Amino acid sequence: GAPIEVDISALKPGEKLTVEWRGKPVWIIRRTPEQIESLKATESQVADPASERKAAEVTPMEETRNAWRSIKPEIFVAVGICSHLGCSPVDRFTPGAQPSLPADWAGGFLCPCHGSTFDLAGRVYKNKPAPDNLEVPPYTFLSDTRLLIG
Ligand code: FES
Repeated sequence: GAPIEVDISALKPGEKLTVEWRGKPVWIIRRTPEQIESLKATESQVADPASERKAAEVTPMEETRNAWRSIKPEIFVAVGICSHLGCSPVDRFTPGAQPSLPADWAGGFLCPCHGSTFDLAGRVYKNKPAPDNLEVPPYTFLSDTRLLIG
């Protein structure tokens, strides 16, 4: 599929935009400073913090193999498909929003199919059915407000 251009100028902190790329949902989230900070705390709770597992497939771009899994810490781009059996996780940005989730959870994504949870960098928590982190697709910034995905 061809790369797609996305205007992110209207995306406010804490908001998510979903676009379609190669028939898959791609999320673009503008993380708040608190959400970026939360990634330090979740580092010890996720199964593959540095995205070393299947790095070439899950995190093909060198620039996104870092603590934020993104080029710019505040802009997170990921394919919204669970690495277990392919459901689309839903976002749970608010701590305590789900009774079954820990109240101190900083937020992230929850797969409704078998309960895998991911942090705000799309890293799967330990002991969940999903084997890998969410895929970070290749992308570049054309400007501060325009992204090219693919
Ligand atoms: Fe996501 Fe099974 S498909 S946990």
